Amino acid sequence: MINADNCRITHYPAEVLAQKAEPIEKIDDSIRRLAEKMTEIMLANKGIGLAGPQAGVPLQIFIISLDGKKENVRVYINPTVTPAGELDSVEEGCLSVPGVYTKIRRYKKCRVAAVDLAGNEFTEQAEGLYARCLQHEYDHLQGITIAERMGAAARIAHRRKIKELVEKHESQEK
Ligand code: NI
Repeated sequence: MINADNCRITHYPAEVLAQKAEPIEKIDDSIRRLAEKMTEIMLANKGIGLAGPQAGVPLQIFIISLDGKKENVRVYINPTVTPAGELDSVEEGCLSVPGVYTKIRRYKKCRVAAVDLAGNEFTEQAEGLYARCLQHEYDHLQGITIAERMGAAARIAHRRKIKELVEKHESQEK
């Protein structure tokens, strides 16, 4: 059972961001509270998406609100995201990799199948920013952040910022 009150934004290279998230077996009050807390964290940080591991919880859940508004937050539980179409390279950021904005190659379209907070399954076709956001959040559930996704040139360009994050993480562990 997770205690959502303890949830905090996690930053690269936290271990929870690098592990595969587990499926959610039962949508109970703790999961509903987690979704609320994740919404609070995302809105406070002005994000448009947030995955469980980013709140320190290695479960298969993410939320998206493309305009960053609370009323448009949607919850995706145990999702599968299947990319389609061509690749596209667009600049992205991630609340867990603060200060790094870099072009990431993703598919222009995708299909998402997930369960909502009421336990109802749904599927959707997505394109544009929505498709990109779904792929980004789904990556988090596989233990992948933009720090791993970025190309070799971007890794060199952002090496100082990445090093800063690693050093900050190491100093917090002591
Ligand atoms: Ni992210």
